Amino acid sequence: MPVVTCIEDLRKLAERRVPRMFYDYADSGSWTESTYRSNEADFRGILLRQRVAVNLENRSTQVSMAGQTAKMPVAIAPVGLMGMQHSDGEILTARAAEKFGIPFTLSTMSICSIEDIAEATTAPFWFQLYMMRDRDAMTRMIGRCKAAGCSALVLTLDLQVPGQRHKDLRNGLTVPPKPTLATLIDLATKARWCWNMSRTKRRSFGNLVGHVQAVSNMRSLSAWSTEQFDPRVSWQDVDWVRRQWNGKLILKGIMDVEDAKLAAAHGADAIVVSNHGGRVLDSAPSTIRALPPIAEAVGSTTEVWMDGGIRTGQDILKAWALGARGTLIGRAAVYGLGALGEAGVTKALQMLHKELDVTMAHCGHTRLASVDRSILVPGTY
Ligand code: FNR
Repeated sequence: MPVVTCIEDLRKLAERRVPRMFYDYADSGSWTESTYRSNEADFRGILLRQRVAVNLENRSTQVSMAGQTAKMPVAIAPVGLMGMQHSDGEILTARAAEKFGIPFTLSTMSICSIEDIAEATTAPFWFQLYMMRDRDAMTRMIGRCKAAGCSALVLTLDLQVPGQRHKDLRNGLTVPPKPTLATLIDLATKARWCWNMSRTKRRSFGNLVGHVQAVSNMRSLSAWSTEQFDPRVSWQDVDWVRRQWNGKLILKGIMDVEDAKLAAAHGADAIVVSNHGGRVLDSAPSTIRALPPIAEAVGSTTEVWMDGGIRTGQDILKAWALGARGTLIGRAAVYGLGALGEAGVTKALQMLHKELDVTMAHCGHTRLASVDRSILVPGTY
């Protein structure tokens, strides 16, 4: 077992263990990847004020996100195809999140189904939905979420027109992978992944196959999503979803103050400042830059969260200081999953938590409630 000290160690291990097309699917952004990179880089530029001679006993990072207690202000972001990073990936990640004490979000584009997660866990989980042309299919999916006891619906608003990732095109991404020569050569070096995958039946889109017509593989999925993702989405459609769902509604993909105000006015219990991990609009600002004006504008009326680029507990603390009352992590969890399965996700969460706790202490605080912008060096954010 290699020594793992940080998320970057998990990323390197995942790079060695996960087949190239699925590793690249996660470690990529749209077009030039400039937004993908700035999500991470802009955190690095924000500096913290070191404080001393403060009683640092009895620290806690516990918060509430959408009414759910979380051991730290982090939930697992919806990530498509987690079950291709590691067999049964969504189940393993949901279990790790439950044991650790943070919420898990299942993507519409997951390999394991809503029902699989409900069976494998006891804590209520969240489900992520896109606006689809077929409203009956959406109603059925929302009905399955209710039956599974999901406690929140995350409506993603930033992918009605998909972005383009060059790596996926070059790799010819398919689910399951097509047996081309290049793929077979790559798989020959990923024996552990192949062995684990041979022992599960979950190798397709569990939420869609059998529930939505015409989806059996990646090719039919992309045809289906091009046809089904509704490019005409309006705030009236958000109202429609609000009427279908009595639980918490989280609107994801908000990057603009005007949209944040509209989201709050249309009944969002929380909004996620998100650029989809740099996978949609290249040249959008990093989320840590977009966050402060949004938190100032609507933070008192709705919960403001953010995601994108979080690779250390320090990033979580910086986001909190700038007004985020929660964060979502995508790749930090995905790398753990690809590297070491459930144990890797647990390791990722433990490391983020420790980094958050120790950094909060070095900034002179024992509770997140007292942390604000005053922990940051002026002029660096
Ligand atoms: C995503 N994301 C995403 N979002 C969503 O609403 N539905 C989805 O199915 C997916 N799928 C997906 C796949 C992969 C491989 C990645 C990396 C991301 C976006 C995700 O929820 C989140 O916004 C970003 O991952 C946050 O950035 P970091 O933490 O990955 O840097």
